[in-house]
Amino acid sequence: MIQQDKLCDIGFIGLGVMGKNLVLNLADNGFTIAAFDLDNEKVSAAITQDKLENNSDTERVIGCSSYTELLSKLKSPHLIVLSVPAGEPVDQVSESLIGAGIQPDDIVIDTGNSLWVDTVAREEKYKNNFILFSSAVSGGEEGARFGPSLMPSGSPYAWTRIQPIWEAIAAKVDIETGKPLERNKPGQIITTGEPCTAYIGPAGAGHYVKMVHNGIEYADMQIICEAYHVLREGLSLNTNEIADIFEQWNNGPLDSYLMEISVEVLRHKTPDNVPLVDLILDKAGQKGTGLWTAVSSLQVGAPAPTITQAVYARSMSSFKSLRVQAEPLLTGPEKTTYTSEQKNEFIQNLHDALYCSKICAYAQGFQLMKQAEKEHGWKLNFANIAKIWRAGCIIRAVFLQSITDAFERDEDLENLIIDDFFAKQLNNNQLAWRKAIANITLMGIPAGALSSSLSYYDSMRTAVLPANLLQGQRDYFGAHTFERIDKLKGKKYHVQWGTEDKAIVEI
Ligand code: 6PG
Repeated sequence: MIQQDKLCDIGFIGLGVMGKNLVLNLADNGFTIAAFDLDNEKVSAAITQDKLENNSDTERVIGCSSYTELLSKLKSPHLIVLSVPAGEPVDQVSESLIGAGIQPDDIVIDTGNSLWVDTVAREEKYKNNFILFSSAVSGGEEGARFGPSLMPSGSPYAWTRIQPIWEAIAAKVDIETGKPLERNKPGQIITTGEPCTAYIGPAGAGHYVKMVHNGIEYADMQIICEAYHVLREGLSLNTNEIADIFEQWNNGPLDSYLMEISVEVLRHKTPDNVPLVDLILDKAGQKGTGLWTAVSSLQVGAPAPTITQAVYARSMSSFKSLRVQAEPLLTGPEKTTYTSEQKNEFIQNLHDALYCSKICAYAQGFQLMKQAEKEHGWKLNFANIAKIWRAGCIIRAVFLQSITDAFERDEDLENLIIDDFFAKQLNNNQLAWRKAIANITLMGIPAGALSSSLSYYDSMRTAVLPANLLQGQRDYFGAHTFERIDKLKGKKYHVQWGTEDKAIVEI
């Protein structure tokens, strides 16, 4: 029997890129880890890398060759982190842990992008075997290594055990400025600042919030790509010129990780000095989280057209051969040439269109979470959610501080676009946004996310929409009834369309 104090703090299963980096991050922060992967070489690779980076023989990561060995190397009650693909693998590992003798007070944290309803079902399914906790991780490889954003949810008791560990390894922001605190070297740790993790709510809530994070990520990426497309095709700018514009935009309200990496991708050249981006096939991949967000927005009735359009854009891109076939068959406008003055004005309008669309994408994501909160009886803290996205995650941006401020001013804010700060931003930029969309339309360049954002904005600021006619149509063919603005609220009416006098009757 190994003594308790010689046992490891954390068991870790799944040493892919994310898993290995989370292990190294945990080790840097003083935790000892018993690590297991079905591929033994991944275990060895993690141990070797940790020794190299740590520059010492201290064993911070202990390799295990079975689930049973992993459990035997852990302090009780066991705390186990899973970094395995979402779906079946989570259940396979859970069953293996049960087979290996996991105990009901042991905690298993699923850090993958699991579908939130699966997480709710799993918590229930395994509750007599162990405590399933979920905590999605955002930030990719680098985030996992030097500080991700973590979205934990599930048993509040489990959170009391996990919290100090999560707060240690999460990205940190400066309390005064709200800006990320830099950490980028092995061995370096940050013990000051606000950690980018906060308890989100009951089982599934954290995975829901991460799903919406990814939906916003899809939207944010797509609007940047549409701006790139317009600059490339509409203004005939080269990759370097576009990178210069994006770099400049990254110094203002659009300052974000996604903008920063877009500049890097655009500047990257092959050994033959060809911009790499020109050689990348224009077919987008997707693992499903954006689609889940779009589906959920339809299910709960919270419109998220920018996010949904971003998912469509990925699907559209996958029809490569159809698009190649259609290009010579279908007509677009003649290409226009612009003076440099016109170009500059257009570029400024495009910047404003991007900024306003970004506001709409986040407004949609937060409103969706608000709607889901009501639907599922959660109590989400939106200021905290915005706070933990300020650093570490893929959508990290200066902008997230303004969202934090908006929800701190009004925790019940129904939609970001009616917050004073954001309303002002939209009001000041809406004309430029319209001009950009009008020009893009005349250029014949697809920009579904930018233009559907404008339509979202216009719908949201329109007190009377044409749904009155729609209700009339529904009543005509299906006797679906309607309410009247000149009568008592809640009273239903129907027109006897098939009769001579077409009388309006109260139902
Ligand atoms: C993150 C990312 C991460 C992953 C996405 C990519 O927050 O770190 O969102 O979760 O990179 O799953 O999703 P797609 O493959 O669907 O683009």
